[in-house]
Amino acid sequence: MRVEASPFIVAGPAPADEVVGRHDVLAAIAERAARGRFVLLTAPRRYGKTTLMRRLAHDAEAGHDLAVVIVDLLGVQTHADIAVRMAQAWARLPTGALAKAAARVLPFIAGLRVAGGIVSVELRPSVSSGTQTLEAVLDIPRTVAARVGRRVLVVLDEFQAIAGIDQADAVLRSQIQHQTEQVSYVFAGSERSVTEMLFTDHARPLYGQAERIELGPFDADALASYLEARFAETDRDITPGALARYLQITGGHPQRSMLVADAMWNVVDDGGTIDLPELATALDDALARCADELTAIRDLLTDAQARVVRLVAWDEPLTGAAAQRLSLSQGSARSAAAALVDRGLLRRESRNRHSIVDPLFAEWLRRLGSRP
Ligand SMILES: Nc1ncnc2c1ncn2[C@@H]1O[C@H](COP(=O)(O)OP(=O)(O)O)[C@@H](O)[C@H]1O
Ligand SMILES: [Mg+2]
Repeated sequence: MRVEASPFIVAGPAPADEVVGRHDVLAAIAERAARGRFVLLTAPRRYGKTTLMRRLAHDAEAGHDLAVVIVDLLGVQTHADIAVRMAQAWARLPTGALAKAAARVLPFIAGLRVAGGIVSVELRPSVSSGTQTLEAVLDIPRTVAARVGRRVLVVLDEFQAIAGIDQADAVLRSQIQHQTEQVSYVFAGSERSVTEMLFTDHARPLYGQAERIELGPFDADALASYLEARFAETDRDITPGALARYLQITGGHPQRSMLVADAMWNVVDDGGTIDLPELATALDDALARCADELTAIRDLLTDAQARVVRLVAWDEPLTGAAAQRLSLSQGSARSAAAALVDRGLLRRESRNRHSIVDPLFAEWLRRLGSRP
């Protein structure tokens, strides 16, 4: 009987001690944060942004130099929503000096109801407009930094969510621009065009305010060492051929690398070796685990987009014989591809060439239909 579970984390942010590589990005962000510079961290979904921010918070806790608070903005729609999310981030900090300092200021913010100690936070619209509350909440980092005598780094995760909220970036800017002596910000987001627009459009209040850092795939050597170490610790082995093929298939996509690693781990018993046939089985398993999700994604594509992803999965250009065989005009191919890049499904390599961000989606598409 096998009692051990796979060591690979396949969903949600990975714990700080299970982090593959990323030392250079961590160091770069920490260095900017120490100087009060704003950082825009962009990467596709499931590339490890939240994992990295948690790791940064963990390291900062150990280093006692920076106090980090992570705000999850996923799905916010109003100024009040943003205010509540920020207040929640402060209210949910693990006990310590930072949590204590926050607990002293939170109950005095007009419009917020802080109940059950400081655990649940909600807005009372009768007392204040969402905007006023947001402004007050945005002042918490400065107050807290003064109380704890440390610089505070505020991470605004899923930052693309604020793009659709009227004046949210203006309110944010009006507050945070005066705090750089004590407070730093990281804006982390996955819809690159949206997130970037907030900082690169002259007409937007945050224009030119942040330095952009893009999170890429895992470094192949870092991923290989991590995998080999985890396999060795749990009584498994992988042949060099299978390892090379694994690195090629996953392309270092963070979540997909972990998912396929987890599947490989489960294919063999203790003492077993993963070779190419085991890898093939693991890939089938991983695809089966994602089938519903991938089907849902494809169902949402327009006809032109579905043709474009098929071309790209087979490494065919958007124009040419294969595109013609799919009756795809140049114009519709280009606009479909642009929309897919915006949604984070495709990456643009050159004018005519793209790649699919999710290597399992690409493999699934190749199995769905033959080369066009
Ligand atoms: N540095 C890392 N080390 C190990 N696994 C990681 C790392 N970064 C990402 N992952 C994998 O990717 C998944 C998604 O990570 P997450 O941080 O939630 O991504 P994002 O916030 O960019 O959507 C995790 O569940 C884990 O499988
Ligand atoms: Mg995340």
